[in-house]
Amino acid sequence: MKHTDIAELLGTPEKFYGREVTVCGWVRNLRDSSNVRFLAVNDGTSLASIQIVIDKTRLAPEAYEAANSVGCSLMAKGRAVIPGGGREKIEVSADSLTLLGACPADEYPIQPKRHTLEFLRTLPHLRVRTNIFGAMLRVRSELSAAIHKYFGDRGYVYIHTPIITGSDCEGAGEMFRVTTQPWDAAYDTAEVYFAEDFFGRRAGLTVSGQLEGEVAALAMGKIYTFGPTFRAEYSFTPRHAAEFWQVEPEVAFAELEDIIEIAEEMIKFIIRHVMERCPAELEFFNKFVQRGLVEKLSDVVNNKFDVITYTDAVEILKKSERKFNYPIEWGLDLQTEHERYIAEEVCGRPVFITHYPKQIKAFYMKQNPDGKTVAATDLLVPGVGEIIGCSEREADYEKLIAAMTERNMRIEEYKHYLDLRRFGSVPHSGFGLGLERMLMYITGIENIRDVVLYPRTAKDLK
Ligand code: 4AD
Ligand code: MG
Repeated sequence: MKHTDIAELLGTPEKFYGREVTVCGWVRNLRDSSNVRFLAVNDGTSLASIQIVIDKTRLAPEAYEAANSVGCSLMAKGRAVIPGGGREKIEVSADSLTLLGACPADEYPIQPKRHTLEFLRTLPHLRVRTNIFGAMLRVRSELSAAIHKYFGDRGYVYIHTPIITGSDCEGAGEMFRVTTQPWDAAYDTAEVYFAEDFFGRRAGLTVSGQLEGEVAALAMGKIYTFGPTFRAEYSFTPRHAAEFWQVEPEVAFAELEDIIEIAEEMIKFIIRHVMERCPAELEFFNKFVQRGLVEKLSDVVNNKFDVITYTDAVEILKKSERKFNYPIEWGLDLQTEHERYIAEEVCGRPVFITHYPKQIKAFYMKQNPDGKTVAATDLLVPGVGEIIGCSEREADYEKLIAAMTERNMRIEEYKHYLDLRRFGSVPHSGFGLGLERMLMYITGIENIRDVVLYPRTAKDLK
């Protein structure tokens, strides 16, 4: 269907004044008086809708009556004109309207008013037609483009790592199982059962592309992966999803301080990109979702991130007046309340916490000479908490074997990974940025369920 995108009409109105245009879209709002009907029509190309003006004294009722409800879809032809008032610089004075799809007003749940996010979650197929979801999806798209641009422009190779995998990267046992056969009592042991399954062994959905990313980095130097990852974490927090996207760069010849520099530069780059490409969307979030958002983002891109050690963070938490629900002692993992206190109250900006105790972190992290900590860091941001998990990788074969043995891991399943330490091992580092967490930070949206088209969380799959 030949038509003009509404984003183009609103973005460059002077090109269209006085000309015949064709617009397609869904009616977001409808105002009627005896002589004029105004339709706000949105086609998804921009946050703003265009106004279609129907002069009832000029058009016969058959020319416009069918398109008579919020939610219906239509094609409008008419002249682009300068409006008498309002926000936009262009509107369409209709000559004809063609109804594409009717929408019964009494059944359509998305009305021109503010719905709660909880209500909209029950309608994943229709909530995309609201301003907040349109804005979120456009920012999500630009954020993803920015990630590719950052790495692509710097010579990183984009690698597609497998979704189905035999190894649990994080070693936390949070893998979804992939199988084609049900368990039945005829199997004597789990081994027999797995031997007969599709792959002839245990298989699951990847929790991270890192291990395969390391394989690629130890040949290609600088690589990144960007794709869906899965965690069977039975948690009901606003920050955990069972399916989320992760971008995972892996860099050979890089130590912890090098990868921290890359992470900070990348975060600033992608925020800047979204600020340039989505000003209207960020203004919208600033007004309706998180006051001060735009100022916060400007501060982030213009200032250095903080860096503090885990040990110092624990000292700060222990000395603070704040009563925490979870105890904090050196050696315990930081809980969300601790992370948020450090990021929000102590630093007030993104902060890298470094040198975590080895027993609370994954097996692959480089062990520090102190024998107690690993060369790892999490990037925490106010309002969200951890958005990046990062480390230098253990490049020493013996130390890696020791770390895996301590964790009772099935070493034979990691033979290839271990080979990387036998054949030309090099210092290398990488990180994983959760796309949804980043999107929460950029938009101010507080629940991960509202930054995905179809969220997958424990006990919920629509
Ligand atoms: O800290 P994580 O578990 O690190 C890894 O998976 C490493 N293998 C990454 C690497 O070094 N290549 O996860 C990385 C990030 C977290 O910081 C968080 O942003 C996000 O992934 N994440 C989740 N996002 C949503 N829901 C969940 N259940 C998440 N788990 C992790
Ligand atoms: Mg982590």
